[in-house]
Parts: sequence; C-alpha cells; structure tokens
Amino acid sequence: MRTEYVSMTEDSIDLKAIERAGSILKDGGLVAFPTETVYGLGGDALNPQSSMKIYAAKGRPSDNPLIVHICRIEDLYEIVREVPEEARRLADAFWPGPMTMIFYKSGRVPYETTGGLETVAVRFPSNKIAKALIEAGGGFVAAPSANRSGRPSPTMAQYCREDLDGRVEMIIDGGQVGIGLESSIIDLTDKKPTILRPGYITKEMFESVVGGVDVDHTIIDPSSKEVPKAPGMKYRHYAPKGDLTIVEGEREKVVNYINEKTAQARSRGEKTGVICTDETKDRYNADAVKSVGTRKDEETVAHELFHVLREFDDENVTVMYSESFDSEGIGMAIMNRLKKAAGQQIVRL
Ligand code: TXA
Ligand code: MG
Repeated sequence: MRTEYVSMTEDSIDLKAIERAGSILKDGGLVAFPTETVYGLGGDALNPQSSMKIYAAKGRPSDNPLIVHICRIEDLYEIVREVPEEARRLADAFWPGPMTMIFYKSGRVPYETTGGLETVAVRFPSNKIAKALIEAGGGFVAAPSANRSGRPSPTMAQYCREDLDGRVEMIIDGGQVGIGLESSIIDLTDKKPTILRPGYITKEMFESVVGGVDVDHTIIDPSSKEVPKAPGMKYRHYAPKGDLTIVEGEREKVVNYINEKTAQARSRGEKTGVICTDETKDRYNADAVKSVGTRKDEETVAHELFHVLREFDDENVTVMYSESFDSEGIGMAIMNRLKKAAGQQIVRL
C-alpha cells in the first residue's frame, strides 16, 4: 500500500485532506493522526474489520483493546451501557483532553475493538485536527498509539512514518504533540474509580473531582504477579532498541556511577547514551547525552521522554542509563513509562 502524507496545523486545518481521511475511515481504511497526547492510528471503531486491520498494522496482539475516540459528548451514550455520575463529573472537568474512561460497552461496539471485553475505553481528545478527523470519519474512531507494538509512542509524524509507512492509507502530520505521554486511563466499572494508566491528569486532579481514587496495584508494584486491568500495561512497552537501566539515588553518586558504567561499556565497543536533566547534562561523557529538560518542570520531562528514546534508536545507541524522577503528580506517569522502557532494570545506590 502507498501511504499518502498530508500536513496541517490546528490553526489551519486542510479541510479537503480531512474529508479524504474521513472517507478512508468510512471505507474501513487506516489514518494516523495527531492528538494532544501522542499520535494515534485510527480506524472506524464500529467496524470489526477496521479494528483487525489496526492490530495487524501495529503488530499488536488482538486481546489488547483499543480506545474509542469521540468528538461530541452526546456520542458517548451511543457506545456505553450507562454513564455513572462520577464519569459525568470527570467529563465536565477533563474532556476534551488527555483522559480515557472505561465503561460497560453497548451492543454497537464490536468485541474486535474491545479485545473481547464487555468494557470499552473512551476518550474525547482536544486536538482540533483529531476532532475534525473523528467527525469526518463518522464519530467513532478506534485509535491506539501509532507505533509498531513495543516501540515508544510517536510524538511526531516522522516516527509514525518509521513505524507505519506502507501499512496505513494516510499519515497526517500536525507537528510535535503537546503532552508527549499517553492519556490517563480511569476505570469507572468498579466500586471505586481506579487509575489503570497514569498520565497527564494526575491522581490528585482526579481526586479533586470525585474524591477517593485507587491506583491499579500493578502500576505501584510492577513486579506484582497480578494481571494489570489495562491489558496493554502487561507488555514491555516503549522499549528502545538498546539496553536501558535507571539509576536511583543521591545526585553525585548517580552521576559518578553512570560515568563509570558508560566508560566501561564504551571500552567494550558499545555506543553509550545518558538520559539526564539540564541540572547535570554537562557532567556526563557518554557518546550521546540527552537532557529531558529541567527537574523544575516535569511537563517538559514528559514531553521529551519518548522523543529522546527514539533519538537513541536513530543514533544506534546500544547501552543507556537514565536518571530517575520523583513519582509524585505527573512523575507517576513519567516513571511508569521509563521503568517499562527499561524492562524494570533499576539500580538503587
Ligand atoms: O493518549 C492516548 O490514550 C493515545 C491516543 C492516540 O489517544 N492512545 C493510546 O492507545 O495510548 P493504546 O492502545 O496505545 O493504549 C490503550 C490502553 C492499553 O493499555 C489498553 O490495554 C487499555 O488502554 N484499554 C483499552 N480498552 C480497555 C478496557 N476496556 N479495559 C481496560 N483497559 C483498556
Ligand atoms: Mg500504545
């Protein structure tokens, strides 16, 4: 298949291209598009064949359900059995935006889209290109992150091209995304709302709207034998091609340890990389030293993380070390993704 490339910005949407993209979706084809979190790989959520194509294009196991994206709040009622009061309040507070809620699905949503589950994940994104595409495509767009399964989620269209060229009908380039980490997922089918995947909307933000919120046990303790409630969270994700280790501890010790380890790896002929912050970036001597911004601004750290992991791949870095981050607020999402990228390899000094 030849992939068509189009480019636009949120302030000047190419309506002709969106119309073409909408027809592709209605005809059962796939379109990669920007959202405020990461790029999505879209197909018609109500068409079982489209969902099967998404799994195939991503190389993703078909028991890992997709998020259904909507562009009008009323459309939620078409695809879910009921909307609990908490969900209504969360929608008022955080939609459109980087939040996904889990509901019991209605009969309109095929099991192919939900990976066989009785529940469905729904998100109303705020990105204007995404909203225009969803509307043009019929209102219900299933979209996982637009990466090949296991790779870091794409924060720029060029990464969609790397992973999906020739596998989708169209890729819409809308520039670099704003947030850089996938949406927060919150399950509303249990007695107490439960965070299944941390993201930009933090536990504290959820609690300010609905009171007490649980966090899926497997996020806090990844070595736990329990199965995560979000099936996708069980896979090693976001993985760069090289070997990544997180180093935790007091700053001076971390810098010295990483310098020692990268020097050793280098002498074995490895190409070495370090993920650090503005505060320490001048102190490392690896082949590729990449700052994800200042520790004072965790949003920048979130924004840069996947991008930096992809850059290491492009530069064929084989051994990487990363500094660690606080796991408060959005830090919970940063550390969750970083630990997965590292396959849970952490050194505590
Ligand atoms: O920010 C985002 O959420 C991006 C953009 C494109 O919207 N999408 C995204 O989708 O990250 P994906 O497929 O990469 O991740 C969806 C996660 C997976 O971990 C999946 O297992 C979980 O959501 N999920 C989907 N449906 C679910 C359900 N019914 N119950 C529990 N978890 C579900
Ligand atoms: Mg993903």
